[in-house]
Amino acid sequence: MCGIVAYIGSNPAVPLLLEGLKRMEYRGYDSAGVAVLNGELQVVKTVGRVSVLEDRLQEKPPEGSVGIGHTRWATHGDTTERNAHPHTDDRNGIAIIHNGTIENYASLKTALQERGHKFDSETDTEVIAMLISEFYDGDLEKAVQAALREVRGAYAIAVLCENEPDTLVVARKGSPLIIGVGASEFVVASDPTAIVAHTTQAFELDDYQVCKLTREGFRTSTLDDVSVTPKIQQLELDLEQIELGSYDTFMMKEIFEQPRSLSTTMRGRLDKRDGKVVLGGIGPYARELVRARQFLMTGQGTAYHAALIGEYLLEDLAKIPAKTEYASEFRYRNPIIVDGTVIVAVSQSGETADTLAALREASDRGALSIGVVNVVGSSIARETDAGVYLRVGPEIGVASTKAFTGQVLTLMMLSLFMARRKFMSVDTCQHLIEELDQVPSYIERILESDDQIRTVTEKYVNQENWLFLGRGYNYPVALEGALKLKEISYIHAEGMPAAEMKHGPIALITDGMPVVFIANQGPQYDKVMLNIEQVKSRGGRIIAVATEGDTEIRKHADDVFFVPPISDPLSPLLTVIPLQLLACHAAMLRGHDVDKPRNLAKSVTVE
Ligand code: M6R
Repeated sequence: MCGIVAYIGSNPAVPLLLEGLKRMEYRGYDSAGVAVLNGELQVVKTVGRVSVLEDRLQEKPPEGSVGIGHTRWATHGDTTERNAHPHTDDRNGIAIIHNGTIENYASLKTALQERGHKFDSETDTEVIAMLISEFYDGDLEKAVQAALREVRGAYAIAVLCENEPDTLVVARKGSPLIIGVGASEFVVASDPTAIVAHTTQAFELDDYQVCKLTREGFRTSTLDDVSVTPKIQQLELDLEQIELGSYDTFMMKEIFEQPRSLSTTMRGRLDKRDGKVVLGGIGPYARELVRARQFLMTGQGTAYHAALIGEYLLEDLAKIPAKTEYASEFRYRNPIIVDGTVIVAVSQSGETADTLAALREASDRGALSIGVVNVVGSSIARETDAGVYLRVGPEIGVASTKAFTGQVLTLMMLSLFMARRKFMSVDTCQHLIEELDQVPSYIERILESDDQIRTVTEKYVNQENWLFLGRGYNYPVALEGALKLKEISYIHAEGMPAAEMKHGPIALITDGMPVVFIANQGPQYDKVMLNIEQVKSRGGRIIAVATEGDTEIRKHADDVFFVPPISDPLSPLLTVIPLQLLACHAAMLRGHDVDKPRNLAKSVTVE
C-alpha cells in the first residue's frame, strides 16, 4: 500500500505534504514525490525514504499552496524515480497520486498507446493520468469522473491540473481516503495520521465518489455526477497516539502501550457481576451466532496467528466447531459454506486484499460475516455484517504487536460472549473475567524484564537460524514469535508445534542453535519439557518462556523469560510479550530500521 496526502489552502503546501508523508511512511517507503501548482506544475520525485525527498526539496522548494504527495510501496514496476508518484499526462498538465491497483490497466494502456499516448513509467497509475487527460476539456472534475467510469480495481487518487490552479480533485474506490476540513483549507490523506495535526473535522468518501475541493468549499458527487452530501465528523485520534514520545521506535512504543491498549479493548465490555460479555457490535446478531454450526476464521500474517488462537478459544470455551485458514488460500479453493457458517475476518488495517476477498467469497456463499478489525471505517469493517473493534489505537510499526494482543483479547471476548449463551456457567465466566482484568498489570510486570530480555538477545543475536516451538494455545504464539523475528531482524526463524519438530526440523539443530520454547505451566507442560530435552541433547540452546515460580525450568533452559501465572486460554496474551521484545532488540542490535523493515509495508492491499 502507499500513502497519499494532498493540500489546498493558503499555506505553503510542501512542508505540510512532507509532514504528512513522514507520518504515513509506514504505509510504504520505496520512493516518494510531490507535485505543487504555482502557475505551472512542479514535480519532484526521489527513490528511497521521505528524508531523501526532503533533502532534494531543500535545494529548491517548489512554492505554491496546492499540492499532492505520495510515498510508495512498489506494485507495478521497479523502485525508480520514473515509477515514483506523482505521475503526469502528456498533454494537459495533469498530475496524479494513487493508492491501490488498477486491474484493467494493461488493456487501457494498449488502447491509449494506440491513440498516441507516450508512457514514461511501468505503473498502472500513469494510465489513469492519461485517461483523465483524454476526457479533459476544461473541467477536471468531469474528466476524473469519466476516466474512473472506465477503470476497474481499487484506488484513492488526488489530481491536479495546470489549467485549474485553484482546484484539487480526489476520488476513492476500495482504498481509504479521508478529507480533513479546515478554515478555507483542506488536507486529504489515506490516513488520519496525516490530517489530525491540522484539523479534527473530517469526512470519508464512499466508494465511487469524487470530491472537488477549492479554497471556498467542496462538492462531492458520484461518478455519474449526482451530488451527495457527506457527513463531517470528529476524528477520534490525538497527536500523542501517533508520535514517538520518549521511544526510539514505534514498535517499542506499541509493545509498551499494551497494558493501556488492552484495558481500552476491554473497557465497558466485561460484566464481572453477571459473568457476561457485552459486545454492542454483534449484539443484534447474538441469536444467529448462537445457532451457528461452524466458525471460519481467516486473516494473514499476525492476524492469521490471532485467528488460530480464536479457533482454539471458540472450540474450547464455546464448544463451537471452528477452523482457521489463510485468506489467500480460502478465496481461491472453492470452499464449502454450509448453512449456519460464520466467517470471522481478523485484520488490523481492515484493508488486507486477501482477507477482504475471502470475506466476500464467504459472504456471497451465505456466511454471516464478523469483522475483528482495528481501523474504524476500513473496508473490512464496512463490508462485514457485524463486528468488534480492537480499540488499540493506531498501530504504526510495521511489525504488528498491540494489534495482535488486541485481536487475541477480542476473540477471547467473542468466545466468552458465545460460551455464556451456550454451555459456560456464570462462575467460570466470572473467573475468566477476573483474570482478564489482571492482564494489563501482568503485562506491566513482564515489561519490567525488558533489560534482561535485551541481555539475553545479545547472546544469540548473531545466530542466523532460530526455532520457535509451542503447544496448544501457544503453538500460534510460536508462529508469531518466529514471524516477528524474521520480519524485522532478517534472521531466519521457523515456528511450529513443539511435537512437529521431531518429524524433520530436528535435523536442523546444531550446536548453539537458539530454540525458543513457550513452556508455560499449562496442560502440556510435561510434553514441552520432553521436547526441550530432545533439543538440548542435540546441542540446541534453550530460551524458555515460563511461568513465574517454576523452579524446574532453570535446570533445563539456558535462559528463561518469566510471565505471571494465568489460565491456559489466556496465556498467549502474556507469553507473546517477551517474544515481541526479543525481536525488537534483535533488530535494533543488528542495526535495522525496526519500523520500516525491508520490502514490507504496513498493510498489503495487493495479492
Ligand atoms: O492489517 P492486517 O492485520 O490484515 O495485516 C495482516 C498482515 O499483513 C500483518 O499482520 C503482517 O503479517 C505484519 N507485518 C506482521 O507483523
